[in-house]
Amino acid sequence: MTKPKLSAAAEPLVLGIESSCDETGIGIVRGTRLLTNTVSSSMEEHVRFGGVIPEIASRAHLDAMIPALEAALADAHVTLDDIDAIAVTAGPGLAGALMVGVSAAKALATATGKPLYGINHLVAHVGVGLLDDNGTEDGSALLEHARDGGLGALLVSGGHTEILQVRDITQDVRLLGATLDDAAGEAYDKVARLLGLDYPGGPAIDRAARTGNAKAFVFPRGLSNRKFMGTAEAPGAHRYNFSFSGLKTAVARVIEGFEARGEEVPVADIAASFQEAVVDVITKKAVLACREQGLHTLLLGGGVAANSRLRELLSARCASAGVRLIIPKFTLCTDNGAMVAALGARLVEAGYEPSGVDFTTDSSLPVTTVCF
Ligand code: KG4
Ligand code: ZN
Repeated sequence: MTKPKLSAAAEPLVLGIESSCDETGIGIVRGTRLLTNTVSSSMEEHVRFGGVIPEIASRAHLDAMIPALEAALADAHVTLDDIDAIAVTAGPGLAGALMVGVSAAKALATATGKPLYGINHLVAHVGVGLLDDNGTEDGSALLEHARDGGLGALLVSGGHTEILQVRDITQDVRLLGATLDDAAGEAYDKVARLLGLDYPGGPAIDRAARTGNAKAFVFPRGLSNRKFMGTAEAPGAHRYNFSFSGLKTAVARVIEGFEARGEEVPVADIAASFQEAVVDVITKKAVLACREQGLHTLLLGGGVAANSRLRELLSARCASAGVRLIIPKFTLCTDNGAMVAALGARLVEAGYEPSGVDFTTDSSLPVTTVCF
């Protein structure tokens, strides 16, 4: 994407709106400085369904949008008048949920006359790493690392599982690998349900796995054989891709077996073995992509970044491959408005033209479209 450039603005004050899944997020940044990150989650409302129900999420966004906006402005000690630009997640995500945030952003932009940027949620997950106070190191240092095309991102949440290469966060982001079916967090949520554990399943399985034996069951590592992986010289079609549906089915069969025999289901052992299968394949493929694509720095994002085994194994494998691992603080890893504002500020600083109000949401927006 190459856009006509406006004169670049230094340290713009940008309001970011996020509503692609079950978090209504409003963030405000000044340049690379985070002023507020206000998030209202509808997760509690999805608990009894064991997963996010799109219609409920959309309604919750409607209820939360104005209070979250008011709270964010108050927390940042700024007014709408002070804002230089508005950025909003235009995709990918749940269609109805995205529509609420984009409609709110368009209404705000129209009422205030402020420029509006419709941006990519996945790229925004990386943008958050470029904030000064991202909980790890100076964000602008990360940007330096990114300038040579050596920045990668591993995004793992309830909605996505992607490996990205970020050459220029404003216009050159490539998708190296993604899941063909369930997202990693979704697999955790579904398997937790099979095991009778609470939603969200990730933390529940993480906890149960601590007392389990990760070698008790050997569960499949999707798309990991030679047919899919190929070789470094002749890569297979799914070398960096993931699939978790076979793993979920394998877990279901094991549980059914115990139940059919009238035996107690060994929840902790199954949780630990399932977790090992997910984390093994994610970390192996991410580090392989880093090695083969010349990525010396890897940023981790998404709710599954909270997983203790993922952090442990990814740290170990990155260290032995000489890849520097960056994990922003958890509130910035999960969906939030700060990441949207952070990417918006990059676009404004780089002088990109705003999107206007004619763009529409795109629930499967490709990562190559950083901004409409
Ligand atoms: O980024 P996020 O908050 O938003 C959505 O994708 O909606 O990610 C939520 C996902 C859920 O699937 C949840 O089960 C998973 O992140 N998760 C975890 C852990 N904490 C949250 N997965 C594994 N281990 C955890 N400790
Ligand atoms: Zn996300």
